[in-house]
Amino acid sequence: MGPPGAGKGTQAKKLVERFGMVHLSSGDILRTERASGSLLGRKLAQYMDAGKLVPDDIVVSVMAKAMTENSGEAGLLLDGFPRTVPQAEALDAQLARAGKPLDAVVVMTAEPDMIVRRITGRRSCPACGRVYHVEFMPPRKAGECDACGGPLVQRSDDAEAVVRDRLATYNRQTAPVVDYYRRRSGLKRIEVDGGRDADDVLAQLTKAFESFGASSR
Ligand code: AP5
Repeated sequence: MGPPGAGKGTQAKKLVERFGMVHLSSGDILRTERASGSLLGRKLAQYMDAGKLVPDDIVVSVMAKAMTENSGEAGLLLDGFPRTVPQAEALDAQLARAGKPLDAVVVMTAEPDMIVRRITGRRSCPACGRVYHVEFMPPRKAGECDACGGPLVQRSDDAEAVVRDRLATYNRQTAPVVDYYRRRSGLKRIEVDGGRDADDVLAQLTKAFESFGASSR
């Protein structure tokens, strides 16, 4: 969990390479549906482009399907879900039915000015999903993905005004989910400063995952 630009997607991709879980990003899953041009996809665009959350019933059903289809030996790393208390309750119910409780919650923080700088400079590769930053993590050749050579694009919700709305949405609707998990006894928690250097953040997260019993593959 964490505000836009805290580095959730960047770190999740590195953690799954190391620990072998399946990375399920609600934002990526919703963007794929949106890009399909389906009726649901067109509905999603209205919320996403405005920096608002997609309604809970839609997200819960999309994520429940993705979790069922992707349950692997090494587990799941959820990124961007749950984002409201009703989503967290729905996740609890689904995990209880599956007999697979939540192991840990990771909260990444970042300051608003840093968030805006990161998000407005983000570029990503629609073909392979790799994420860059024009200043902090530039590709070797401007505008071109290092991994697959595809053209890099800017997300439609990464304009500064929308980022500020997304941050306000986070503070209003998602910060209560952090408290929801803080109140739960026995749940492992880690809070990291996502504003630090990406390698430092990864080192902290790796150490925490190992202390939770995750093993490298
Ligand atoms: P989503 O795609 O989840 O966006 P987000 O939460 O706003 O998070 P971001 O992807 O913007 O940031 P990130 O923390 O992953 O940062 P990243 O690693 O890319 O959601 C988009 C929309 O979908 C929502 O607004 C909503 O409409 C909808 N949605 C999704 N889930 C939903 C849900 N559960 N319920 C309802 N609606 C939902 O890094 C950002 C940039 O910074 C990159 O350029 C990266 O290279 C750079 N960077 C990262 N770490 C560092 C570092 N340590 N140092 C320097 N640069 C760094």
